Amino acid sequence: MTPVPVAVLVSGGGTNLQALLDALGAGSAVARIARVVSSRGNAAALDRARRARVPVAVLADPTDAAEVVAAAADARLVVLAGYLKRVPPAAVARFRWRLINIHPALLPAFGGDGMYGRRVHQAVLASGVALSGATVHYVDEEYDRGPILAQWPVPVRADDTPDSLAARVLEVEHRLLPAAVLALARLGVPERPVRLVPDGSAFVVADHPTVRLGDAG
Ligand code: GRF
Repeated sequence: MTPVPVAVLVSGGGTNLQALLDALGAGSAVARIARVVSSRGNAAALDRARRARVPVAVLADPTDAAEVVAAAADARLVVLAGYLKRVPPAAVARFRWRLINIHPALLPAFGGDGMYGRRVHQAVLASGVALSGATVHYVDEEYDRGPILAQWPVPVRADDTPDSLAARVLEVEHRLLPAAVLALARLGVPERPVRLVPDGSAFVVADHPTVRLGDAG
């Protein structure tokens, strides 16, 4: 099996990229990170890619669909990992059902334009909900609106601050995103939406073998 080539789009620190680099490793037979594309030339995520000897590209204009498509053209799966720009509709259409994003809350709640970073956790705490979590979803033409691929809950604690909640959710993101990427890669990245349903410590994909959370690549 040829490893599925994955492009990762980033804008910031790249801790989700690092989780993917660690999970897919150099020798993964399932998936490999073929390129890291950043919306900013000074994103620390680029240094993580360079340390892992992964080719990088910086978008001159993240609103230019042709540029975004060209940057990720050799990927079968495109992953937004801390990417803060809206993907142009023509690029969404080009990567339909092969473009996913990680969001630090249980969508559809606490998502949408402007809902990123600390603001998400502030809104969760202000709402008084008992559960937050992480969501991996398909990207469509609107922020955080596409069909959900996988979610994992994170309890909210009475003494939580936005930073303490963010840190706990981020730990879950770092396990959920690699599991979702590996599950999709094992399925050959079907060009239709699938849902990964947690089953104990595993994810069960409808009519497919169980994919255990944290499986090595
Ligand atoms: C993460 O919370 C992610 O969910 C959101 O951006 C944050 C930072 O991601 N999309 P990273 O550390 O740059 O991967």
